[in-house]
Amino acid sequence: MFDFKKYGIDMWHQDKIEAFRKALLQWYDENKRDLPWRHTKDPYAIWVSEIMLQQTRVDTVKSYYERFLYHLPTIRDLAEAPEEVILKLWEGLGYYSRVRNMQKAAQQMVADFGGAFPNTYTEIASLKGIGPYTAGAIASIAFDLPEPAVDGNVMRVMSRLFEVDYDIGVPGNRKIFQAIMEELIDPARPGDFNQALMDLGSDIEAPVNPRPEDSPVKAFSAAYLNGTMDKYPIKAPKKKPLPVAYQAFIIRNEKNEFLLEKNQQSNLLAGFWSFPLLEKGSLVSPQVSLFEVAEDIPQMDIRKEFGKHYPLAVEWQSDEFSPVQHIFSHRKWQIELLEGLATNALIPTDREVQWVAVEDFHRYPFAKPQQKMWNSYLAGKQGLK
Ligand code: ADE
Repeated sequence: MFDFKKYGIDMWHQDKIEAFRKALLQWYDENKRDLPWRHTKDPYAIWVSEIMLQQTRVDTVKSYYERFLYHLPTIRDLAEAPEEVILKLWEGLGYYSRVRNMQKAAQQMVADFGGAFPNTYTEIASLKGIGPYTAGAIASIAFDLPEPAVDGNVMRVMSRLFEVDYDIGVPGNRKIFQAIMEELIDPARPGDFNQALMDLGSDIEAPVNPRPEDSPVKAFSAAYLNGTMDKYPIKAPKKKPLPVAYQAFIIRNEKNEFLLEKNQQSNLLAGFWSFPLLEKGSLVSPQVSLFEVAEDIPQMDIRKEFGKHYPLAVEWQSDEFSPVQHIFSHRKWQIELLEGLATNALIPTDREVQWVAVEDFHRYPFAKPQQKMWNSYLAGKQGLK
């Protein structure tokens, strides 16, 4: 058994554990959110919901979830779908490696499990992109296995229940919360138990503006009873995302088509289409500090740089567009826009570029920053009229 004492945790006796389960599940039965993925036992559907919910709010996920399952109703459909289709179905959700990994996992299931979802924790956790949290969620919700699903919400709730003095942001500390949950989880209703904690952690015990008075389990909470709610969970502040400056080129031809490029690198947003985009840092020598200089690159140099990458004669037009900002988890993109009219046809290049009419944009996966660029461009054009 886990050595709770070593971590300063007073694990409860069995009768208290059972009373806790009862209080939590009774509250869940009366208050649970009616969510589309709570009407199914299909592990594939539950997996889709859990992956979407990892970084995205429940309200946003609902419509993506329905659409994804409508277009790709089975593991095999996902395994065989073209990249453009899966990116399109994920467009706007961000963290696109999630859906690429899902496709690899679906291919794994076709190859190794006859196209069926595996039904043990270990096999589920062997799938690409499925970590301990997601494996626990699927195992408990779809297969009624007594597996905890420990995410930030659950760690926050546990940390208050037991006044856990270990940082919930430190990966090595997860095992403490996992061990607590292994004691508490209700073997009769493990999926509901996990989901009850998800509901509790995202509302009454939310990270901001919690309402501890309303908690159905406040009588069990050491932090509540001892007046230390403000101290828990222990969590060091996050590092700020690093700013990166980009120049975007909104280039039209005489047929009013726009130049789009497929990102072929395996970095952020690989496989997506974008207006040509150059990192301003690449225009200065690497020895020079990127962000001090990036702001000062003269327009002439940016235009010349464009010419080196895209063999196209361009008549430059307005740069009077609001800059676009997009924050990823570790990067903050700051994008300036420059408009141009191409006066010759594009000479073939290694880059995957195409002229695309606005009516056809919907065929090309666009990520959030590209949508923001387009909106800024349209807003600027209206302002210029
Ligand atoms: N967040 C992650 N998984 C969830 C689920 N199954 N229900 C509600 N919120 C969630």
